Amino acid sequence: MKRSLPVFFFVLLSLSAGAQWDDTDRLSNDFHRARREALRTLMPEKSAAVFFSNPVRNRNNDVDFQFSQNPDFYYLSGYTEPNAVIILFKEARVFDGIQTNELIFVQDRNPKQEIWNGKRLGVEGTRQMLGFPAVYRGIDLKGFGINWSALKEVLIVLPDQPNRERDNPADLSDLVDFLKEGLSASPDLYQNHTALPKLMARLREKKEPGELKLLQKAMDITIDGFKDMIRQLSPGMTEYQAQAIVEYHAKKGGSEYMGYPSICGGGLNACVLHYTFNRKKLKGEELILVDMGAEYHGYTADITRTLPVDGKYSEEEKAIYNLVLAAQDSGISKCKAGNAFRASHEAAYEVIAEGLLKLGLINSASEAGRYFMHGTSHFLGLDVHDAGTYGPLQAGVVMTVEPGIYIPEGSPCDRKWWGIGIRIEDDILVTDAVPVNMTAALPRTIAELEKLMAEDF
Ligand code: GLY
Ligand code: MN
Ligand code: MN
Repeated sequence: MKRSLPVFFFVLLSLSAGAQWDDTDRLSNDFHRARREALRTLMPEKSAAVFFSNPVRNRNNDVDFQFSQNPDFYYLSGYTEPNAVIILFKEARVFDGIQTNELIFVQDRNPKQEIWNGKRLGVEGTRQMLGFPAVYRGIDLKGFGINWSALKEVLIVLPDQPNRERDNPADLSDLVDFLKEGLSASPDLYQNHTALPKLMARLREKKEPGELKLLQKAMDITIDGFKDMIRQLSPGMTEYQAQAIVEYHAKKGGSEYMGYPSICGGGLNACVLHYTFNRKKLKGEELILVDMGAEYHGYTADITRTLPVDGKYSEEEKAIYNLVLAAQDSGISKCKAGNAFRASHEAAYEVIAEGLLKLGLINSASEAGRYFMHGTSHFLGLDVHDAGTYGPLQAGVVMTVEPGIYIPEGSPCDRKWWGIGIRIEDDILVTDAVPVNMTAALPRTIAELEKLMAEDF
């Protein structure tokens, strides 16, 4: 950040990263250590894996976006600051007199910067808080004595083009340069940029108990917001006011960010799958599709409900709603260990195709994609569309089930259907037996939702 405006402005608005520790519900050091160990078991002999923190991204002029850590980096370390790199080795080596199979280089303490952006962990803090034994300053990576030529492979994903930071001799782009410098004698070691994401996908797909706890919390605070928003929904409200109610509860519940830009589409906007403009005033006869998820300590919820603004679904809306609901039930029933990842989509699609045929909206099942044009499921975790292998489902996987029907104006069907856009989305834990709907506390049926809308707030 440049320093051209009065100090008080930056004290209020500075959006850059800083370690502001709140220990509530933090994933344990043992969790992160065990995940590093699990990765090591998947790594080839005589290999190293290199992870960079995310870059700080500029929003405009003097203002950066709130820093969000690279999910793999966070998963393996719990470190939430920029300008850092982790190097994991399959086999332990001796560095600096320490026998270790992992190194972390972090941004240095900097009292001047900390006045603006908050306290940093630094080397000592990272050692103490995160339990890494071999911690160094970023600048130490320059000329660090790693004997790369003793390795057979270096697994690496380089970060997006980072911005240069002023007055920082070891910003993210410097770290990339230092590393490449060290590796320059052995460029063949790191040609394959797809191997590491594949290993991380294998680890991140199935959730550990500590992760499920954070996911459940993210879902619960999102549900608090949805319930309040549904009660308060009324004609004349705007899309952004509906959004604000859910986001208020997310923040109040401890969420650091929303997991993705909130989708609040009223009327025809409900048919825009990832509509995020959210500026329209809502009319009584319209539906609003609300797709939102709080992120809590990195883990995000992803929930959608579609509501009639005046509290009562019309006959046409009821017909489409119940069809989507039946498709969702059918999709959820397929979230069982051993099933193919696509089983939920195939089941939901079949219900929707049959239903649209019966309602006369399409002439053959193959036309269903005109109104249901997206997949039914994705993995959920640190990313809203989370890492995973898309192989057979395993117990411990969390995935969404979110069928939808969208009938924009001008569609080749009776006009009475035009403008209806309905998606219902819940977050499901795959088990060996009955799938667990982790967002079941939020009403889904027409009767339950109309009852909630009729409640005083
Ligand atoms: N919220 C984005 C999605 O449902 O995939
Ligand atoms: Mn989703
Ligand atoms: Mn969603």
